[in-house]
Amino acid sequence: MEQKKTFYITTPIYYPSGNAHIGHSYCTVGSDAIARYKRMQGYDVMFLTGTDEHGQKIELNAAKEGVTPKEYVDKIVHGFQELWKLLNISNDKFIRTTDEIHVKGVQKIFRALYDKGEIYKGAYKGWYCTPCESFWTETQLKDGKCPDCGREVKWDEEEAYFFRLSNYGDKLLKLYEEHPEFIQPESRKNEMINFIKNGLDDLCVSRTSFSWGIPVDFDPKHVVYVWLDALTNYITAMGYDSDDDSDYQKYWPADVHFVGKEIVRFHTIIWPAMLMALNLPLPKQVYGHGWLLFGDGTKMSKSKCNVVDPVILCDRYGVDAIRYFLLREIPFGADGTFTNEALINRINSDLANDLGNLLSRTTAMAQKYFGGTIPAEREENDLDKELIQMATQLRAKCDAHVSGYQFSNALAEIWKLIARTNKYIDETMPWVLGKDETKRARLATVIYNLCEVLRMISILLTPFMPSTTPKIQEQIGAKEHELTYDTADKWGILPADAVITKGETLFPRIDVDAEIEELNKLIPNPAALKQKEEAAKKEEKTEGIAKFSEITFDDFSKIELRVGKILDCEPVKKSKKLLKLTVDDGEKERTVVSGISQWYQPDDLIGHHIILVANLKPAKLCGVESQGMILAADCDENTVKVIFVDDMPAGSGIH
Ligand code: MSP
Repeated sequence: MEQKKTFYITTPIYYPSGNAHIGHSYCTVGSDAIARYKRMQGYDVMFLTGTDEHGQKIELNAAKEGVTPKEYVDKIVHGFQELWKLLNISNDKFIRTTDEIHVKGVQKIFRALYDKGEIYKGAYKGWYCTPCESFWTETQLKDGKCPDCGREVKWDEEEAYFFRLSNYGDKLLKLYEEHPEFIQPESRKNEMINFIKNGLDDLCVSRTSFSWGIPVDFDPKHVVYVWLDALTNYITAMGYDSDDDSDYQKYWPADVHFVGKEIVRFHTIIWPAMLMALNLPLPKQVYGHGWLLFGDGTKMSKSKCNVVDPVILCDRYGVDAIRYFLLREIPFGADGTFTNEALINRINSDLANDLGNLLSRTTAMAQKYFGGTIPAEREENDLDKELIQMATQLRAKCDAHVSGYQFSNALAEIWKLIARTNKYIDETMPWVLGKDETKRARLATVIYNLCEVLRMISILLTPFMPSTTPKIQEQIGAKEHELTYDTADKWGILPADAVITKGETLFPRIDVDAEIEELNKLIPNPAALKQKEEAAKKEEKTEGIAKFSEITFDDFSKIELRVGKILDCEPVKKSKKLLKLTVDDGEKERTVVSGISQWYQPDDLIGHHIILVANLKPAKLCGVESQGMILAADCDENTVKVIFVDDMPAGSGIH
């Protein structure tokens, strides 16, 4: 038997540092449409997605919630997986960077690169911002200060392993030249060429300042740092260098990595360089798509409170309406804007009016004039020929757009045919034909043609709207073998005795004004966000300090405050920010971790009495369990002072 051609497509692996939003869904839905289309064309498809679970941010988020990093990511990853189910994502595998196969794979890759001399031990030097725990280069600083928080930075260094990325500039330029299709869209390529021409630095691939990562097995105080851990998922998920590498053998190299434009650089520079260093084949293409922007033109992000929750939208309009919007509204390489208005308008005009009406008019007429089964007599004319030609050419047009990952163009072609077919109804006027018994053959021809167009459209639309098209197919009475890709460009496949039924409305029309008002309450929108921001600023100005919401006395009584004496203090090894305090709380000694090392040396603290939050749930910070918290004041933007109460005995309760 002839082997099917394979097609391997990936999404980026998402950071589970917050819940999935519609921006994440954008790339996943796009990849899904391609995976489904290729399967329909007969390819043996591997579609991979997953989550990128390590790093300091996750470690800190988990500590804030008082859970382990694994517990923290488990919950969010579950949310991602549920969302993909809801959105009908047909991924063949889901890789988590905490999966054993990945952890082992990364350790082997790290060691192999080290053994080849491609990774070496050095020192990570730079301007360090203690509160942000981040290194910055000279050029990244803003007015000599941390570009993230604006605070002072100091020159510092940390032992780290480096990958010899600087050796790969010329090889990468050659790759781009010999394989012009490697970086797509074309416009992103020049950016990468310029970046390389400015000179590549070796890449830091391990850190010692946090512990939530894959340990370097031959030097376990180091954990593998970000991109080596993340990028290798594309091969570890296929079982590369494991006991069963059959998927790796079968599917690698990937046909395309879909990624957002901000991570094209990592995928087209670091990733191929690593693969070259390992002597492995390179992916055939990296496609950098644009961003889905919030209505005010900004990128969606949790911190800006402008993320749109796809679950709310799917619940209201159905999954396929959301898939359609994402795939149709934005040409894949470019940025596009999400607004509640644009969504509702698309649903009303394209789905309810154009597609929905075509189906309901066709099935209603088949019922009314022929009781659901169209007689076999035919009488064709030139109007039919034009329609038939357009319909039989649709598959080739869709194929061409899909092979360039231009879903919006493929959908636009489908909708051109839908519009033409609706016009065909107006031109052929079946309601007039229906009044004249001698026109029965002509009427049968017109309605059969409508069903046939719907059959072809339903096949080509399935990868984009997989839960809607079976409803269309059922209503026109088409059977499985009349719905294959091979029949999508052939006319006359639906048999004369197909049983046509009028079923449920595919997309009910929405009352725009009422719905927008309702939706604005559920989904952030630019006007409301701006209003909120201004109100908050005003309040801050009048009050001098930010206001908190009121709590009851009972709420306050839940906090156990006590005087404690600091018996000992030392820096936390894996952190530049944290101090580990041993505190006598009047009854026993306990360990408290506090992020104050920028302002205090251990000797400044030992012997002092402080206020302790004694019943805070213990949490691990950089590997140390903290059993409480000490109180300190933010005196100004850059100064924190611990509250000392040296004249009060340890153990005294505070009310
Ligand atoms: N973990 C890395 C990727 C590692 S791949 C080996 C990462 N994660 S991420 O969660 O921050 O982003 C994952 C993808 O989601 C990126 O491709 C990013 O562009 C995409 N999106 C996140 N928000 C988006 C929009 N608002 N619009 C479109 N895509 C966006 O980067």
